[in-house]
Amino acid sequence: MTQIELVAEKIRSTPNITVLTGAGMSAESGVPTFRGGGADNLWNGRRPEELANPDAFQLDPKLVWKWYDWRRQVIAKCQPNEGHLFLSTLSRHEGFTLITQNVDGLHERCGTMNVVCFHGSIWEMKMAFDSNPEPRVWRNEEVPLNEIPPLCPVTHKLARPNIVWFGEPIDPKVVGKATRAASSCDLFITIGTSARVHPAADLIELAKASDAFTIEINPEQTPASGLVDMVIQAAAVEALSAIKAKL
Ligand code: OAD
Repeated sequence: MTQIELVAEKIRSTPNITVLTGAGMSAESGVPTFRGGGADNLWNGRRPEELANPDAFQLDPKLVWKWYDWRRQVIAKCQPNEGHLFLSTLSRHEGFTLITQNVDGLHERCGTMNVVCFHGSIWEMKMAFDSNPEPRVWRNEEVPLNEIPPLCPVTHKLARPNIVWFGEPIDPKVVGKATRAASSCDLFITIGTSARVHPAADLIELAKASDAFTIEINPEQTPASGLVDMVIQAAAVEALSAIKAKL
């Protein structure tokens, strides 16, 4: 039995499946990843980490919003790829959870069910500098943005993306849902993540410690490669299309 046949067999026979995706999942749709990939992921010479943090926003909200406006324009032109579509089909089965670190909305755009957006969404906003633990979140799909920086339509105060920035905690409800899905599944597949950003990367370890069969799909080695039960060293679309063909 080949690796791919074994994965197909596991998918067929496993009741609870959890998938964790990262930027590599959308790479073949044309969305730049954060790490690696040369200068693709730089904006005006700046690295994402320099912009996706509360201090950068406090200092210059307009600059940070210009970067998000650019990213929204890039993403709006991208379509879900064959891998997204396959996962969307799998998501119709009970016991399936998809945890994504991606904020691009491509999983949701092709109707994937039970998606946990671990890092938020680039298509949602909330009020900036608001300490409310349950903030009001609204959708905004203007491309390009009508005004930069955008304002809350109700309070007319400064808005920010509903995205978890470096140094910010993740909503405990989101962490709870992801943790439950990782610790209670029988099959855990991590796709296209460098497994360097925590706590998302901890979910792989959690699944393994909870006795799930763990698989990594990534063309490159990551810190998770030595931990998982099976490494499929391939791009997401190639690997997922091959699995689909064996189901
Ligand atoms: P990274 O950019 O860190 O890693 C992308 C991973 O995708 C790398 O391991 C690549 O080898 C892999 N990759 C590239 N092309 C691929 C393909 N075609 N198929 C499969 N894999 C491929 O992205 P993330 O791990 O998602 O946070 O980064 C985690 C978080 O860091 C992001 O969610 C973002 C960022 O800061 C926030 O936005 C809060």
